[in-house]
Amino acid sequence: MKILLLNGPNLQLLGTREPGIYGRDTLASITAEVTVLGSELGCEVSARQSNVEGELVSWIGNARAEGFDGIILNAAAYTHTSVALRDAISAVALPTVEVHLSNTASREEFRHRSLIAPVCLGVIAGFGKDSYILALRALCAKLSR
Ligand code: DQA
Repeated sequence: MKILLLNGPNLQLLGTREPGIYGRDTLASITAEVTVLGSELGCEVSARQSNVEGELVSWIGNARAEGFDGIILNAAAYTHTSVALRDAISAVALPTVEVHLSNTASREEFRHRSLIAPVCLGVIAGFGKDSYILALRALCAKLSR
């Protein structure tokens, strides 16, 4: 099984970005941990990050053609704004798990609404890097059923 792990804007700064909110793990270390666990679970993880909405839209739209079976997506700020990302998830129709490091429901009101949650399999938020680990376990379990 092949899983596409996508990270949106500003997540390349993890490690130094508001560590009180996002923790001290870097995107590279999270990606490495998720990739290792993926291979233990029989899921090959390919990770990409972009600050550009259209690039994320294209990666999601091409995911089926690239042979991916599912997507783990931290759309970051685009979670709260992007109809285009939501439409891409609907269009590609691959099981997609929305993840967030922080508990968006306990933060500013503008972070309470996710435009993508209704078209995702589920949402995992608030567990720092473990949000990604839990998302991977959930998606691999779903795909192997
Ligand atoms: C985030 C939460 C978003 O509201 C925010 O814009 C981010 C990161 C998270 O992982 O907690 O950039 O997606």
